[in-house]
Amino acid sequence: MHALLENHRMVIETGYVTPTEKAPEPSMGTALIPKERYTSKEYMELEWERMWTRVWNMAGRESDIPNVGDYFTTELGPESFLIVREAEDKVRAFYNVCPHRGNQIRNPGMGHAESFQCAYHFFEFNLDGSKKFVPDEDTFTQGVPQETALVEVPCDTWGGFVWFNMNPDAEPLLEFLGVVADHLAPYHFEEYAIVGDMTIEWDTNWKASVDAFNEVYHVQGIHPQLLESLDDIHVQIDLYERHNRYLVPFGLVSPRYPNQNKVTQPLKQFLAGSGIDPDSFEGGMGDVRPAMQKAVRAAAEAQGMDVSGLNDDQMSDDYHYYLFPNLTFNITALGFGFFRQRPHPTDPNKMFFDLQSYARIPPGADSPPRPVHSQHKHGEISIGLVMDQDSYNLPRVQKGMNSRSYKGLLINYRERRIRHMHTVLDGYLEGPDR
Ligand code: FES
Ligand SMILES: [Fe+2]
Repeated sequence: MHALLENHRMVIETGYVTPTEKAPEPSMGTALIPKERYTSKEYMELEWERMWTRVWNMAGRESDIPNVGDYFTTELGPESFLIVREAEDKVRAFYNVCPHRGNQIRNPGMGHAESFQCAYHFFEFNLDGSKKFVPDEDTFTQGVPQETALVEVPCDTWGGFVWFNMNPDAEPLLEFLGVVADHLAPYHFEEYAIVGDMTIEWDTNWKASVDAFNEVYHVQGIHPQLLESLDDIHVQIDLYERHNRYLVPFGLVSPRYPNQNKVTQPLKQFLAGSGIDPDSFEGGMGDVRPAMQKAVRAAAEAQGMDVSGLNDDQMSDDYHYYLFPNLTFNITALGFGFFRQRPHPTDPNKMFFDLQSYARIPPGADSPPRPVHSQHKHGEISIGLVMDQDSYNLPRVQKGMNSRSYKGLLINYRERRIRHMHTVLDGYLEGPDR
């Protein structure tokens, strides 16, 4: 643990820049990916026993619990967890379950507590989970041992986020994050504020939702408007031990777009968003991206942000990091969209999609007020044109996967992040215990 932490610190302190090197390609075969992985209850249960209970899961944002006694709950599959700031420098995670008769200690949400009292028979617990008070304790003739405490699980913080792991012998968080912790360090995620926070219930398997964002092969089909502002062909894909990324160039038109010289309307909007007047911009299409990169860096520096660890492409492109099993950081310049897919407690055909947005806050500036989390059913509200386009297909994909005619996912080379995810998943389900 120490060596890892030291290495990571050195990365942060020694002028490290997010690498652009292409990772070597693992060989993963070309077999169909059996559809049962997306539809069967048995597979879902295996995933829970072998994978979800053994990975580091993201609980939420550390800034939501700034003071001692602040807490929030986080729901994952059939479980709920209570995340508590027990001391200024100590965050703990507990199963949100009273050890007496099993009542949930807190309803989903966030708040502040001096101690946690169960609402059923008033067992009371300290912020460190230990027993504080048991009414009529002498009537428990078998005794109420001090171990009658909230059940704690490993908990750690990274990037301004709180993480937990249901495996009591979990590997260190930094080991789980691997190279990605270093790659993302130059963004200084702890300086970002949450500016959007909602959950949408989708009638699809959680992996079908992950898949929908891990390939750009679908751009020409469902997001034709994006061909006017990004390159969906020259997308570098890097598959690491567990996690992966792709780098999508923004600020230029797709090679599929008919007019390669046109400064399209979306590109003009990018210019304007970068502080460049599109009407007086004299460059051609190919000049937009470098101009954006220069302008975004200059604006960030002028606001006192440290962008020295970010390369020029990070000023314009989508550095899209997928952290196994269910986290996506869709990082563009000084903000990122964050996706988290959470499995349904019992149904492989349903899931919860957490959609959050984050903005980098310049040093000394106030963060905007924390948005109130909202929860919606699929189709109830628009989540923006691109995301509406993405989500439109998902229930239909799930229905199609359940057809007796459908055998499994046929994956092309451009879609290989999907195969990589399944390979990593196999490692959990079939490999040695982690
Ligand atoms: S279930 Fe919590 S005090 Fe009885
Ligand atoms: Fe999409």
